[in-house]
Amino acid sequence: MPEIKELVKQLAERHGRNRESLLPILQGIVTEERSISDVAMTEVAKELDMSAALVYGTATFYSFLDTEPRGKYVIRLCKTITCDMKGKRQILKSLEDLLKIELGETTKDKKFTLLETNCLGWCHKGPAMLINDDAYTELTPEKVSEIIGDYMKNK
Ligand code: FES
Repeated sequence: MPEIKELVKQLAERHGRNRESLLPILQGIVTEERSISDVAMTEVAKELDMSAALVYGTATFYSFLDTEPRGKYVIRLCKTITCDMKGKRQILKSLEDLLKIELGETTKDKKFTLLETNCLGWCHKGPAMLINDDAYTELTPEKVSEIIGDYMKNK
């Protein structure tokens, strides 16, 4: 796959080729490719002259660095206690109903992936979720249906 090779090279030129460069490079791959494939990890190992095991270990340690193929929009609903007490379960149910998938799954058109995450730092405005890098707070089933509707229509 020449494109991934090229991408890894560009990222290595931007971030450097040492151990500290590894995380920003992996993040750069996720931004471009939405996940980190085995091929990408091997390329990073070659480019940075590191063991594939180190690259793989780093990628799987950080759950934000998806190693599974994901949808265009990755929804991460906060599952931590405050959001849980503020009705996260109902929000999860709404998301599952709207997207017709269960937690951990990706829609058939590869547009949405539904995941849970730990506290996002929006506890005072819970329940909260991220869609890619955008935070949505004080969620209600109605609000969720509007937000997801917008993504379905416009994005
Ligand atoms: Fe959900 Fe903190 S507990 S954002």
